[in-house]
Amino acid sequence: MVGIETADDAGVFQLSEDLAIVQTLDFITPIVDDPYAFGAIAAANSISDIYAMGATPVTALNIVGYPTAEVEPDLVAKILQGGYDKLTEAGVAIIGGHTVDNPALIYGLAATGIVHPEKVVTNAKAKPKDLLVLTKPLGTGAINHGIKQDKTPPEIVSRAIEVMTTLNKAAAEAMVEVGVNACTDVTGFGLLGHLHEMLVASKVGAKIFASKVPLIEGVLDLIGQRIFPGGARTNKRFADTFSHWHESISEAMRIALCDPQTSGGLLISLPEQKLDALMEAMETKGVKWAAVIGEIVSEPVGEVLVEP
Ligand code: CO
Ligand code: CO
Ligand code: CO
Repeated sequence: MVGIETADDAGVFQLSEDLAIVQTLDFITPIVDDPYAFGAIAAANSISDIYAMGATPVTALNIVGYPTAEVEPDLVAKILQGGYDKLTEAGVAIIGGHTVDNPALIYGLAATGIVHPEKVVTNAKAKPKDLLVLTKPLGTGAINHGIKQDKTPPEIVSRAIEVMTTLNKAAAEAMVEVGVNACTDVTGFGLLGHLHEMLVASKVGAKIFASKVPLIEGVLDLIGQRIFPGGARTNKRFADTFSHWHESISEAMRIALCDPQTSGGLLISLPEQKLDALMEAMETKGVKWAAVIGEIVSEPVGEVLVEP
C-alpha cells in the first residue's frame, strides 16, 4: 500500500481486507552520555515512524553494533534495558535481534505495527486550508551536537532527554481518534525538510509562522554560538531551494527550522474544523507541546513561505 515512492515514514503491506502491517527500522549512534537514556531514545525514535502512519506498533527486533574490544558488555546491557523499558511502555514486545562487532556503537530496532488498511495516515493527503500541528519542540540536533563538545548546559540536556524519550504514542492516538488528512514525523531532514516531503507528495504548498513553532528552551542561544550539526547546514541549504524566508527571520531561527531531530514530534495536517477536537484529545492524553505552526496552501507546490 505504501512503498518507497512518496518518501513516507514506513512501508505498509496489506495482509487481508481488514489488516495491514507497517514496517520500519532505525538505528542511531550515541547522542547522550547516559547509556540507559540513549537506549530509551533510540527505541522511541525507532517506532516513531509507525505512529506517524496512524498504526499501532506490536513487535520489534533489536539491532546492536559495537566495538567488542573497547565497549564493556555492561554498558550495552544498560542501553538494551533502556530500549526494553521504553518499548514496554509502548506495549511493544521485543522478540529477537542481532548483534555485530562494529567500529561504531549503534543501537536501534526494526519494528512492525498493525493498522486497518482504510485508517493508514500517509504524508500524501494534505489539503489546501488544512492547519499544521507539530507535537514536539525542535532543537535536539543542536543540543546533541553541543553535548559532544561539552557545551550544552545540563538543564538543556535534561529538557532534550525528556523530549526525545517521549513516545509519539499519545499524539498518534489523538490523531487517529480525530481523523486527520496527513502526518509525518520530524527527524533527520528537520521540520522544513519533512514538511517539504509532505507538500510534494500531497501536491500543495505551505505557510509556516516561525514565532509559533515550539523550540526547546535555550536552543536558539546554542545555535547563536554556532553550536549545531553539519546536517542542519545541509538541510538549510536544501530548504533554501523551496523556502521563501521573511526578511525578519533570524539566521538562528532558520537553522532551528532545519535542525535534524532525533525522536522528533509528529507533523499533522488536518481540516480547521477538527482542530479543537485534536487539541482536546492531545491534552487529555497528556501531549505537552502540541502547537499550530502553519497552514497548507494550494501553491506553489512543494514550497514553504516562512512568515514571522
Ligand atoms: Co519518519
Ligand atoms: Co525513519
Ligand atoms: Co542472527
